[in-house]
Amino acid sequence: ESGSGVRVPRVWRAEVERVLIPADGLARRVRALARQIQRDYEGRDLVMVALLNGTLVFLADLIRNLTLPLRLDFIGVSSYGGGTRPGRLTFTKELGLDVRGRDVLVVDDILDTGRTLRRVLERLERLGPRSLRVCVLLEKKARRQEPVRADYVGFEIPDVFVVGYGLDYAERYRHLPFVGVLRSDRPAGPEGTGATS
Ligand code: XMP
Repeated sequence: ESGSGVRVPRVWRAEVERVLIPADGLARRVRALARQIQRDYEGRDLVMVALLNGTLVFLADLIRNLTLPLRLDFIGVSSYGGGTRPGRLTFTKELGLDVRGRDVLVVDDILDTGRTLRRVLERLERLGPRSLRVCVLLEKKARRQEPVRADYVGFEIPDVFVVGYGLDYAERYRHLPFVGVLRSDRPAGPEGTGATS
């Protein structure tokens, strides 16, 4: 299966099977995405709307590579069910800024089936933005169920469950500096949540 060829850091070796995208690859690609966004939104009134919580690290790196004026807001979405299986979508935080007539760029961690972004885009569309585009760090093309496309995509990845760089498994692993694939035989965590999937 695909991997980056980069070894999993020793501290994560018991839990992470392989590094899919190493930290330096993420940094390079995020800078390139920022350059593209910078060009496209120069002179516009950009409002970035990031989805919580998975965009945390990606967003922090992305915005620090942008020098155009922008405003930032968040929408909270949670697909209950936990773990790797998607469940019902609930909005946990609504948009605060008025985006009517603004150029809105939605930022998400991963475009998978497309259900999350479809719901979010429908909501935002009703608020009357001047333009509405999507930026995702990762995309799994194989699993698309909804007609959603992203205008800016960091990496297309195979249909594997990934963690790190903001992405979690049961709220763990968000702080890994790389994107990796968990081991199916990893030991249980302190609360015993790490062993199954
Ligand atoms: P949909 O299917 O709605 O999925 O496009 C988007 C949301 O599902 C989560 N997701 C993942 N989270 N590793 C994760 O940590 C993955 O491989 C993965 N695939 C989907 C994620 O929250 C995303 O916003």
